[in-house]
Amino acid sequence: MKEGIAGKVIYRKDYTAYPWDVSHLDLHFDIGMKTTVVRAQMEFQLKAGINAPHRIVLNGSDLELISITLNGRVLTHSDYSVEGETLIIPDAPQNSVLKTEVRIHPANNSALEGLYLSGEFLLTQCEAQGFRKITWFPDRPDVMTTYRVTLEADKAGFPVLLSNGNLAGAGESPDGRHWVRWDDPFPKPSYLFALVAGDLALVEDHFTTRSGRDVSLRIYVEEENLDRCDHAMQSLINAMRWDEERFTLEYDLDIYHIVATNDFNMGAMENKSLNIFNSKYVLARPDTATDADYQGIEGVIGHEYFHNWTGNRVTCQDWFQLTLKEGLTVFRDEEFSADMQSRAVKRIKVVRDLRSRQFPEDDGPMSHPIRPDQYLEINNFYTATVYQKGAAIIRMYHTLLGERGFQKGIKLYFERHDGEAVSCDDFLAAMADANGVDLGRFGRWYSQSGTPQVHVTDQYDAASQKYTLTLKQHTPATHEQKDKQPLVLPFALGLLTAEGREIPLQLETEAEAVTGTRLLIMEETQQEFTFIDVPEAPVPSLFRDYSAPVKIYFDYSSQQLATLIAYDSDAYVRWDAAQRMAENAILEQCRQHAQGIEMVVDSSLVKAFRGILSDHQADPALLAEAMMLPAEDYLADQMEVVDVDGIYAARKFIKKGLADELTVLFSECYARLKDGRPYQKSATAMAGRSLKNVCLSYLLETDTGESLAGAQLEASDNMTDTLAAIQGLIMSDSLLAETALAEFEVKWKADALVMDKWFVMQAVKPGSNTVNTVRKLMDHSAFSIQNPNKVRSLVGAFSMLNPTGFHAADGSGYAFHADRVIELDGLNPQIAARMVAAFNRWKRYDEDRKVLMKAELQRIASVKNLSGDVSEIVNNALR
Ligand code: BES
Ligand code: ZN
Repeated sequence: MKEGIAGKVIYRKDYTAYPWDVSHLDLHFDIGMKTTVVRAQMEFQLKAGINAPHRIVLNGSDLELISITLNGRVLTHSDYSVEGETLIIPDAPQNSVLKTEVRIHPANNSALEGLYLSGEFLLTQCEAQGFRKITWFPDRPDVMTTYRVTLEADKAGFPVLLSNGNLAGAGESPDGRHWVRWDDPFPKPSYLFALVAGDLALVEDHFTTRSGRDVSLRIYVEEENLDRCDHAMQSLINAMRWDEERFTLEYDLDIYHIVATNDFNMGAMENKSLNIFNSKYVLARPDTATDADYQGIEGVIGHEYFHNWTGNRVTCQDWFQLTLKEGLTVFRDEEFSADMQSRAVKRIKVVRDLRSRQFPEDDGPMSHPIRPDQYLEINNFYTATVYQKGAAIIRMYHTLLGERGFQKGIKLYFERHDGEAVSCDDFLAAMADANGVDLGRFGRWYSQSGTPQVHVTDQYDAASQKYTLTLKQHTPATHEQKDKQPLVLPFALGLLTAEGREIPLQLETEAEAVTGTRLLIMEETQQEFTFIDVPEAPVPSLFRDYSAPVKIYFDYSSQQLATLIAYDSDAYVRWDAAQRMAENAILEQCRQHAQGIEMVVDSSLVKAFRGILSDHQADPALLAEAMMLPAEDYLADQMEVVDVDGIYAARKFIKKGLADELTVLFSECYARLKDGRPYQKSATAMAGRSLKNVCLSYLLETDTGESLAGAQLEASDNMTDTLAAIQGLIMSDSLLAETALAEFEVKWKADALVMDKWFVMQAVKPGSNTVNTVRKLMDHSAFSIQNPNKVRSLVGAFSMLNPTGFHAADGSGYAFHADRVIELDGLNPQIAARMVAAFNRWKRYDEDRKVLMKAELQRIASVKNLSGDVSEIVNNALR
């Protein structure tokens, strides 16, 4: 990207307001695949207190300027200057009407930013700075204006012409061309602009808002996908109802469009009333999509819908404030999913995701606070930190203020800022003011990077029946920020007896005891909490519901973990205790393995799993989560120097050991859940499949698994069971795997989304030989390096989800991956930058691997005209 070549670092502290108000933007598109002509008319008024004439600064990239006029006068080269991506008119009067005409070339746009081609239709992606690839404009989120958009095209090729807002007119001309006009009454920043033009089919439904507005809901897809839109539509309706009930937020236009595309850099985009979605998050049918896909669709449809208020009606002042809209909206979509499905299971998935994606980011070369202070390429800051940690911080407001207090804060936020572009400070102020509390110190979460560590120790005095917990917090230095301050941590706690009964909690300073979870607040580096009338040395149940995004250290005995697993009232704590026990066991065997000592399976882990498998009361989905062993990458994070092969061997050993010891229970559980009933979409059915397939994955470590998987595959009427069976056969090196993959390919070769799964299954097969498979698959007719979903499924899955493949000792995985990054950089820098991050934590490996990875990073860094996207990541990694 141009910005990168310029290599200019943007600092948050340099923010200045745009000196002009833009009162309206009129756009006219003369649409063609190869060439589109864009005419823009912008009305500028100088803001109060600024003297005219004043300069107008516009952004543009790869635009062929045909003409430009100011208040009716044609401007010549001496009237303005163009430098890099900015056009400057030095002396514009107080009221300036600017007209431009540019030519752009959508079919040549492989970066999928701006106006581009997907299959047979044209569409746009403007966040964060793609609007400048469409026309000259102040392409920054604090310039909000109303849009009128007229789209003109050949009617046969482009029967559907969509943009933001309400339909404001349409017409045809005798030469086969037609036009459609859209008016968006809500002022918006340019990143929310969208257009879609092409031949798309439509599924329609309606929603009546609580104040009686009838909203037409329209999902546009390619004709052959019309039978895969039901779930997305139902999710949209649920999201609209949920936002009214939980947040009292209503939809504000008469129409809501969703368009699905196979060519998309991200998951989906919240353009005002014209959401554009990666087809992965729209299309689903039981035989093509897994339960995880169904849940993903519900969550993403919700997320983009919720942006209509948190992001669109109130937007970001500048891109440093990205978490203002993304962290808050992720929190909202998490809550939506929790209310739709199982709250406890959703919470566990969120915690797992934070630990496996965000913690490593905090610990690597790209560490940054949720509100970064600087960037080179903003696209590199759509991160797990801004999103997932950002959401965790919003959740802490909620935990501290309660649902009512939180809603009061949200209400005040909209009363104050509807129609504005604001900052994270404004959000915090609304929360504080609405509740009459001081959140000053809480604000440190916005500016401090790194994962806080909380070390907990305890002391029980039998004579006085007093129990003291000591908490110490410490945030390790991150690469870009050395000094850290103590943070405000909501600390939700329970105490259990050895038999698992909840002990009533009474602090020394309190008059009476309360049973159940207690919320304490930690804000100093070190704090003690002493409880009285504690009848026995308790088992502490710490940070219930994961009340703060920290690493929690407590030296639990196996016995204590077993108590928590069996009895704790908090699902997160039960799950976490099981994960800790498994983690301890695997890491212990990994150390044994390294020393050539024979590995053994920890008996308390076997016992705990026996308990889990014998629990017929709990939600099966929770039991499934508890028995999923920690991922290899997560285990790697717990080691000083990553032992790639040791982790794989130890994890596999423990899994097989559990399977051997508990074959009967796994088989019984599997048989009980394999009820032979036809597929159902319900949460209960999904929970059942989840536990059943976890059991299958264990049984595949024994002699009994292969035939079960074969039979499951044969009988399956849904993609969840099909994939679990094939994936299991691959993982256990079964001879049936090859046939299963071949049959799958024949059946689904024309189906892009399903073929993505086929690529993933092969890319994640452990072992150093997989790189050869992956290399061959790049020649498969269903693969395309130009398509982000394909790249993620093959290249991304291999480098990020297959440690023994990617980190093969001979460096073949690294070399392959670096070649792909270089190839992608010339086509789609955003995707190339996502991919190159696989090398980010190279310093955590052994000497040989470090040398190999560093050499690949250097090879990438030395590529001529390397994009700013990739060079920012690579240079940070090498620094
Ligand atoms: N606004 C983003 C999409 C986006 C981000 C587009 C960056 C272009 C550049 C959208 O709201 C979003 O956050 N999408 C997520 C999915 C969501 C459920 C977290 C995505 O695309 O991954
Ligand atoms: Zn978002």
